[in-house]
Amino acid sequence: MNSSPIPMIMDGDPGTDDLLTWMWALARPTQVEMLGIATVHGNVPLARTTENALALLDFLGAADIPVHAGAPAPADQDRAPEGDGAFAESGLGALTLPPARRTIASDNAVAWMAQTLRAHPAGSITICATGPLTNLALLHRRDPEAFARIGRIGVMGGSFNLLPPNHVRRGNITPWAEFNFYMDPVAAQEVLNAGVPVLLLPLDVTHLFVSTPDRMARARTLPRHGQEVALMLDAAAHLDRPKFGADGAFQHDTTVLAALLYPHLFQTMRGQVQVVTTGPAAGACLLLPDDAALVEVATGVKDPAAFFDLLFDALSG
Ligand code: RIB
Ligand code: CA
Repeated sequence: MNSSPIPMIMDGDPGTDDLLTWMWALARPTQVEMLGIATVHGNVPLARTTENALALLDFLGAADIPVHAGAPAPADQDRAPEGDGAFAESGLGALTLPPARRTIASDNAVAWMAQTLRAHPAGSITICATGPLTNLALLHRRDPEAFARIGRIGVMGGSFNLLPPNHVRRGNITPWAEFNFYMDPVAAQEVLNAGVPVLLLPLDVTHLFVSTPDRMARARTLPRHGQEVALMLDAAAHLDRPKFGADGAFQHDTTVLAALLYPHLFQTMRGQVQVVTTGPAAGACLLLPDDAALVEVATGVKDPAAFFDLLFDALSG
């Protein structure tokens, strides 16, 4: 068990599940030293994901966690592809947060990540990546030496099989692809094959964590922010139910933090991952088992209820 907290950079596209991930991390300061937040295009445009990150930190009264705005569009495109409105135009679903009072620390998240990685011992920083991987791909291109100093990247993205519970689609944004990989497939392909250890949480596993009515009721009884947490948990249910026959919303980004902090909850395998970068299946990915591979893919979970116990316990403080 690590005695000291893991130095962590959060890279995401809030999106309420990104926000809930960061809320969980902030609630566990003895396990996570949050060095800062890098925002990226994705669920909503960059200006909105950045405002949502700032607003969450204010809402929580979080200490001075710096927010750095990152890439407004995929690494090799001028404009981001259309999303699916999973979290409404605000990126927050039905949740509303008071407008942020604080401002961004910089508009160059990639430069900040490089500087932070160079200022910390090589291998000491973990990246919690819960949006399109554009910032990390740009870091790899612009400063490969800094990129190589990353200890591990936890990634929410991709999918490998027909998805539970109804097994009729392989993806959530298209029938083929998961949203984060679809939004920048070139970046996903680059980062997953860039020589840094990756812990990958694909939809195959995130679909095992559902905001069922009993869990929603439990969230609402939290001593603080229960209503907000419930809205974050359930934000994408309006899509997950019709697309997949789910009994609520799937919990995607929070599983990255859970897998980084509580690896015993998950079954994993090592393998090489290739991401389709063009055509109708752009963002789809393939897995080739390889015990020597740097990518560790979550393939199952031993007890989804334990995940929610850990989440609600952290948020009960
Ligand atoms: O496919 C789920 C992912 O897409 C999550 O990270 C969600 O926030 C969206 O970014
Ligand atoms: Ca996200």
